[in-house]
Amino acid sequence: MDKEQLNGYRYFLKDSIRKKIDFRLTDQNQGILVPPIEKSCPEGSKRIDLPDFNTLKDLQKTDLTHAIGNRKSHRVYLNQSLLLNELAYLLWCTQGLQGKIVNGHAHRTVPSAGCRHALETYLAIFNVDGINPGMYRYLPLSHQLVFEFSDDLLPEKMTTASFGQSYPGKSAVTFIWVAIPYRMEWRYGLAAHKVIALDAGHVCQNLYLACESIGAGTCAIAAYDQEELDELLGLDGKDEFAIYLASVGKIKKNF
Ligand SMILES: Cc1cc2nc3c(=O)[nH]c(=O)nc-3n(C[C@H](O)[C@H](O)[C@H](O)COP(=O)(O)O)c2cc1C
Repeated sequence: MDKEQLNGYRYFLKDSIRKKIDFRLTDQNQGILVPPIEKSCPEGSKRIDLPDFNTLKDLQKTDLTHAIGNRKSHRVYLNQSLLLNELAYLLWCTQGLQGKIVNGHAHRTVPSAGCRHALETYLAIFNVDGINPGMYRYLPLSHQLVFEFSDDLLPEKMTTASFGQSYPGKSAVTFIWVAIPYRMEWRYGLAAHKVIALDAGHVCQNLYLACESIGAGTCAIAAYDQEELDELLGLDGKDEFAIYLASVGKIKKNF
């Protein structure tokens, strides 16, 4: 391996960049308007209300210690649909709002550097009760889904876009986390990118634990065809691009 190249990539994992940034020059400190905390929806788009969190509490079949102790990656799922309230629960656990927006900050069920939350959640839905298969996006601010598009070949396309891994196309739903880097760059400039990746890790771990607690299973997926997946999602690959996926489905469980 090329040592110099390795050092370049390792640099990304460090926080040395922070000492090189003049934070007075960040867009935030230059008084540039804060970017939206949620991607907007085209006019007239079809939205689906999700069950309120207060109706989701009874779904949990195990406690946190059991969920943490038993968490593992599941790549094979039962041919059983996920209930809409189960999907709503998984979305709330991974990106849900904890309360009201205060001073432009929408605290969520996961931490995020500077509370910037630079991720959007796309959902390739294949087997969720009451939802037609297709691509959707979660809207945390209103706890809704917005319909993106349908495609009869979506299962095959998800598998191809994951370098032939079958589970993203054979799941009940596959979560695709998309970064909108400017949301983080606005505050941190060149120090934004590592923390976006760290944020995504928290989100996916919550998905593992939440799945474990309701008799579902998930598998994190970081091996995917960047350009193909972005194109499938209709993202420009510059200001918005996929960074992480996780397939989800029901599994055989003994609580
Ligand atoms: C960042 C990350 C990326 C991963 N990418 C993939 C992947 O592309 N395909 C896959 O089958 N598993 C993937 N995994 C799952 C790991 O293979 C799995 O976590 C590991 O084998 C340990 O197994 P366990 O999760 O059951 O403990 C990924 C896990 C993480 C945390």
